[in-house]
Amino acid sequence: MTERKIITSFTAMPAHDGDGVDLRRAFPGVQLTDHDPFLLLDELGPTDLAPGEARGFPPHPHRGFETVTYLLSGEMQHRDSWGNRGLLRSGDVQWMTAGSGLVHSEMPGEELARAGGRLHGFQLWVNLPRRDKMLAPRYQDTPGERIPVATDGDSVRVKVIAGQALGVTGVIETRIPILYLHATLAPGAEFVQPVARRANAFLYVVEGEAESGGSLIHPKQIGLLDRSGEGVRIRNVGGSELSVLLLAGDPLGEPVARHGPFVMNSKEEIIQAVDDFRSGRMGSMV
Ligand code: FE2
Repeated sequence: MTERKIITSFTAMPAHDGDGVDLRRAFPGVQLTDHDPFLLLDELGPTDLAPGEARGFPPHPHRGFETVTYLLSGEMQHRDSWGNRGLLRSGDVQWMTAGSGLVHSEMPGEELARAGGRLHGFQLWVNLPRRDKMLAPRYQDTPGERIPVATDGDSVRVKVIAGQALGVTGVIETRIPILYLHATLAPGAEFVQPVARRANAFLYVVEGEAESGGSLIHPKQIGLLDRSGEGVRIRNVGGSELSVLLLAGDPLGEPVARHGPFVMNSKEEIIQAVDDFRSGRMGSMV
């Protein structure tokens, strides 16, 4: 297998969003606007919250793409304008297809708000192709126990959130082929993952030191991969465990019209989205 190389790597920028959630935004930012079909990657925390200190994301709309929330620690209570609700706990994944639109809130779970604790997780935005942008909203709330884990000996452990790794297939359905893996590697261990040449791919180092395609990637750095090989090789070159996300997806190659929480193909569709939101056609939260 020929190995993909790292085109560029950079550190995710500390930022705040919602009503004061500490996060690191890998993109969009000055270095990268998107990586088709991916529109955003945030690492939420890790933040150790005192009782009553937890913050969240009060009601806001979405249309035209998917939000994927993966919690490593803490709790998030989700509610939307169509009456859906769910509690996300450590290890759980919520794959939300916003489609034609909804208004939702993502707030700290009751226990985290009351007692405090650690909030740590990720939010990823995956674009939808033109044909799927106006689908009815769909939720795939997936408890951690249902996320399959692939292993290679004792030194490589891979949570398969979407796609396939080491012969294990994820349970979440995606609209276009998406690979979303969370790998943990012991010092010196190596993980090799086939990735179709047409797919755009990147990795994000959560903790530890990674080497891939001849480049070193440090904690809180994103490494964008080129399309020169049939796969990605990741090696733990640090003295402690490496925790790394590997994402890949088929590029849509469609125009992107983006305005805050709406991502469509044209300016006219954005104007329509804003109008639909303002006139309550995405529902409302009281
Ligand atoms: Fe949201």
